[in-house]
Amino acid sequence: MMGPMSDSETSYELLDFGDGRKLERFGTVVLNRPCPAAEGVEKSRPELWDTITARFRGPRTGDGSWTPQPKTWMPEEWCFALEVDAPFRLKLEALPSGQVGVFPEQRGNWEWIARQLAKPQAMLGRALKVLNLFAYTGGSTLAAAAAGAEVVHIDAAQNIVDRARENAAFSGLAERPIRWIAEDAMKFCRRELKRGKQYDAVILDPPKFADARRHLDAALRGYKDINLLALKLLRPGGLLISFSCSGLVGRDLFQKAIADAAVDAGRHLRILHWLDQASDHAVAVTFPEGSYLKGIVGRVE
Ligand SMILES: C[S@@+](CC[C@H](N)C(=O)[O-])C[C@H]1O[C@@H](n2cnc3c(N)ncnc32)[C@H](O)[C@@H]1O
Repeated sequence: MMGPMSDSETSYELLDFGDGRKLERFGTVVLNRPCPAAEGVEKSRPELWDTITARFRGPRTGDGSWTPQPKTWMPEEWCFALEVDAPFRLKLEALPSGQVGVFPEQRGNWEWIARQLAKPQAMLGRALKVLNLFAYTGGSTLAAAAAGAEVVHIDAAQNIVDRARENAAFSGLAERPIRWIAEDAMKFCRRELKRGKQYDAVILDPPKFADARRHLDAALRGYKDINLLALKLLRPGGLLISFSCSGLVGRDLFQKAIADAAVDAGRHLRILHWLDQASDHAVAVTFPEGSYLKGIVGRVE
């Protein structure tokens, strides 16, 4: 467990956003990173971009670089804290992909997940069973666990699962009922279906499926296929919390993919709510693809 850290060491701020990049403060560190969704938006505070800790250049496939090198500036204990009803912390690290171990644009959604999952548990008098697919470093897992749910955390990458588990320990949630599994999400879901398992909620946040327009049809099939499995695993009354971070897949197309999945799964699904990227990640009206993160929340009958 990490020692206590002050708010200024753990808090996050999006300082500016534009010209394909974002300027963010993670605790005491200010980073200038690429951000495809910031295309088509002009920087609104150009003067802030001169005083940064580090800048990332290169592709997000893993072989870009930070200037200066992280070893010269990366704090030994560096983390992102969500201080809500169900608080947790995610350890940060400057990675060669330009990522730092958290997608801060999800933070409002983690708060929402924690609040929404706490309510039915109080009514049911038992812990909810939650499946979190493509679970990355554990934001949604820890939000659900901190709210009292039993969680199954699935990510294909063992090192990412290890990091999520470390984040649970940093957050004081190591003893919570969380199963940590490194496996392909589709394979895991098919096996759970064979075993007759059912969940009260399935959360899924796959990587970007559509990078270019020519990938759109395949991306929509991908969203349909994984959501079909998720819907089949929900008990009647269960919640689907399904994200897409493909800017090219707008709400209408995403809803259509989910509708196709519900029809094929033979489940009635009502949309209760839409989730979004944090409101500081503004979208230019002329660049709708900037609205990349969207989440549909539905209840199955
Ligand atoms: C966009 S990240 C998820 C972001 C995360 N939910 C959050 O907001 O913090 C996508 C994750 O999906 C994982 N992933 C990619 N393909 C997968 C697959 N076939 N099965 C399970 N996980 C997969 C990656 O390892 C990565 O951790």
